[in-house]
Amino acid sequence: MRVVIQDNYEKMSLWAAHYIAGKIRAHMQARPFVLGLPTGSSPIGVYKELVRMNKAGELSFANVVTFNMDEYLGLPREHDQSYWYFMHDNLFDHLVDMKPENINILNGMAADPVAECARYEEKIASYGGIDLFMGGIGVDGHLAFNEPYTSLSSRTGVRDLTTDTRIVNSRFFGNDPGKVPAQALSVGIGTVTDSKEVLVLISGHNKARALAATVEGGVSQKWTCSALQMHNGAIIACDEAACGELTVDTYKYFLDIEKKERL
Ligand code: GLP
Repeated sequence: MRVVIQDNYEKMSLWAAHYIAGKIRAHMQARPFVLGLPTGSSPIGVYKELVRMNKAGELSFANVVTFNMDEYLGLPREHDQSYWYFMHDNLFDHLVDMKPENINILNGMAADPVAECARYEEKIASYGGIDLFMGGIGVDGHLAFNEPYTSLSSRTGVRDLTTDTRIVNSRFFGNDPGKVPAQALSVGIGTVTDSKEVLVLISGHNKARALAATVEGGVSQKWTCSALQMHNGAIIACDEAACGELTVDTYKYFLDIEKKERL
């Protein structure tokens, strides 16, 4: 596992955006570059920089296929808190050459949510899997909507959200946890770790405990993000504020080994 520590959220975002751009540009194959994407506040800075590069003609999305991590169950696309809406508002609507047919987002209104999740897994497989999955994590370490004690080999499926997650996400629903959907469709931990590379963004003091569990704790379903330790291409991009619970030794190790990456 790599842990790339930057001074702050802005630098973490820039580093991650340029890492992704480099991977897209280096992808010289006829098959598209398959990119997994998250929602939340963590990736907003990355999306801004990807849009800037795309508009400036520095990065093309013409050969990119995307798969989003998750979607609330029961929210229509046009709801301003659906992840479909978020992704179009923050990324897709601003890209000059993203093909709409290359955008994949789980349908939270599917008549048969279980079948929708199976279809999603099949579609990912039809592209030969995901090249790079970018993610964020919740304060309880959930990756996508894989709450604590979700199997580390889980596949795309329907997930119950914990009360804690609904409280945290209620900031987008008028601070009323009751308005946050109780369930979501989400890729599984196994779906994410099947990707060739996984890049997870972790910023802010409130994620410090989760970062320490991900990097220094044992691999455990209690912290589903800890599954990254078993992945051969896992990178965490984080800021200083998120490093507060790492031991000094760990912190110094990654600063030293990744010093050329510091912006
Ligand atoms: C939600 C999403 C996760 C996301 C997490 C953290 O629960 N389902 O995919 O990683 O929030 O969000 P934020 O980046 O806003 O802290």
